[in-house]
Amino acid sequence: MALKLSGTAYITGAGSGIGRFTALAFARHGVTKLALVDLKQEGLEETQKLLKASYPEIETLLLQVDVADEVSVQGSIKRAVDEFKRIDIGLNCAGIAGPHIPTHEMPLDKWQEMIQINQTGVFLCQKHLIAQMLQQESLGVREGRGTIINASSMFGVFSSPAFLGITPYVASKHAVMGLTKADARVYAPMGIRINAICPGWVDTPMISKGIENGALNPEFQRTPVGRPAKPEEISDALVFLASPMASYMHGVGLNVNGGYSL
Ligand SMILES: NC(=O)c1ccc[n+]([C@@H]2O[C@H](COP(=O)([O-])OP(=O)(O)OC[C@H]3O[C@@H](n4cnc5c(N)ncnc54)[C@H](O)[C@@H]3O)[C@@H](O)[C@H]2O)c1
Repeated sequence: MALKLSGTAYITGAGSGIGRFTALAFARHGVTKLALVDLKQEGLEETQKLLKASYPEIETLLLQVDVADEVSVQGSIKRAVDEFKRIDIGLNCAGIAGPHIPTHEMPLDKWQEMIQINQTGVFLCQKHLIAQMLQQESLGVREGRGTIINASSMFGVFSSPAFLGITPYVASKHAVMGLTKADARVYAPMGIRINAICPGWVDTPMISKGIENGALNPEFQRTPVGRPAKPEEISDALVFLASPMASYMHGVGLNVNGGYSL
């Protein structure tokens, strides 16, 4: 079997970083219809511009959505299906970083904002993607009805260094692993494959300040490969995870972290 994608993808966080590079990687490997989802319209337009420049035949739909808002998420999935008929790949990549505050000083609203976007946002997308995929016919034993990938983090598997003070982020990314594993088990018999990706440090706008001011240098030194990932390196792993080549992978958190966890 060759590494080949097809059909339609729905990507949240598509206006920046990993989401944007993965939209390009999906197009390069055979996805022909892309529903690009983000809070920021300018980011979506930039991603669309990049896609059209390299893959003019690709169909795109831009959806300005807050993943923490159920009406917004449900409406966007409906619009994608109205336009493209089905969703073969759902990539839940929208997320925020921080807040860099120790727990004993954490304002409740900061905690809630993080959980609302990074955890409830993934739950809402997963919920409505599954509801849609259950209505789609299976395209074969290895393709199934559809596949979902959630952006967790290496900090969804173990904790972050103390100096970062990002406990709500760590908690939200562990929750994403729980959502992934529990629903992978429930929906595998129904032909829906659900996995997560657990990147280490990735050079995207999410961490650009920490790269520029050197705050993350100790973290890069601690990474055996000695540098953050390029977003393309995460997108390439996502292409594999989304493809039928990964058909026997269910409920996995794929570590792509330059050896950080070794
Ligand atoms: N960059 C890293 O080092 C790293 C490491 C591990 C995991 N991750 C995870 O990968 C995912 C993508 O991160 P990235 O590095 O590309 O970050 P990024 O900041 O470049 O992109 C995140 C995107 O999510 C969007 N977004 C934020 N809140 C949203 C909301 N409520 N609704 C809709 N869209 C929203 C932003 O507008 C942005 O376009 C995130 O879930 C992040 O936690 C990143």
